[in-house]
Amino acid sequence: MKHIERARVISNRYIGDNICDLVMECSGIARESRAGQFVEVYPDNGKNILARPISICEINKIQGTVRLVFQIVGKGTELFSALEPGDTVRVLGPCGNGYDLVDDVEKTVLLVGGGIGIPPLLEACRELNCSKTAVLGYRSDPFLADGFADAGAKVYITTDDGSAGFKGNVVDLLKAEDIKADVIYSCGPRIMLKFLSQWAVEQGIDCYVSMEERMACGIGACVGCAIPITDGKDWTYKKVCKDGPVFDCREVVWQ
Ligand SMILES: Cc1cc2nc3c(=O)[nH]c(=O)nc-3n(C[C@H](O)[C@H](O)[C@H](O)COP(=O)(O)OP(=O)(O)OC[C@H]3O[C@@H](n4cnc5c(N)ncnc54)[C@H](O)[C@@H]3O)c2cc1C
Ligand code: FES
Repeated sequence: MKHIERARVISNRYIGDNICDLVMECSGIARESRAGQFVEVYPDNGKNILARPISICEINKIQGTVRLVFQIVGKGTELFSALEPGDTVRVLGPCGNGYDLVDDVEKTVLLVGGGIGIPPLLEACRELNCSKTAVLGYRSDPFLADGFADAGAKVYITTDDGSAGFKGNVVDLLKAEDIKADVIYSCGPRIMLKFLSQWAVEQGIDCYVSMEERMACGIGACVGCAIPITDGKDWTYKKVCKDGPVFDCREVVWQ
């Protein structure tokens, strides 16, 4: 069930160039959230601007907090970056379906993230109790990678410019290292998800992708986030905010 709460900011700090790490107390949302879901954060500037979807990066059900990691790209995220401990902000959540995580210690899981798509994979990594490998792709400066290592994952880093880790993209690394797994959970730019999905299908690996499309209402009331989804024969539109953001990669019409 979704809650709308006035969340209290516990901490907000920069962890990279224009990347903020915001922890908020919102116990109703924290209690019901799962990895891969997101919250809608309302910019509080007196103007009626739409809420912004941000993935849940970490959930602490005992302390009633959620952690969000976001990049400042426009007005909404700029306002969130200025939040200080003790401030409150209106939040709706948990939204979307989240990852259906395997619950089998014998399985091997690959977490593949690109840029600002990496945050929702951290909670997935924390919750998985099997062998897990994280392949994290960045333009340059890596962020959050330590969190994956702390959660027990073997971590590979790739950067476009080769300033850290492997020079190239995440799919190049998977091929170069001949990494295999039973299941992949992923989030990142659409182009990365497309090539990852092609590779996963070739390898016969189940792959679930979180599609961070642009959204309008965020609650299923418009069609601002609709994407084509196929059952292999026919196709239809599904709403990322309501039916997703996580889909089986074979359902997505990548075109
Ligand atoms: C399900 C979901 C989860 C998300 N999780 C995160 C997250 O964990 N961390 C994070 O930093 N961002 C995340 N995003 C993206 C985030 O919602 C947008 O960056 C944010 O809404 C931009 O708001 P703004 O007012 O700052 O910028 P705006 O002024 O609205 O836009 C500024 C620029 O960002 C671009 N933009 C806006 N939304 C998106 C988007 N969804 N994808 C690509 N470009 C976009 C616009 O085209 C424009 O160029 C997520 C999006 C979705 C749909
Ligand atoms: S953003 Fe309106 S239906 Fe998804």
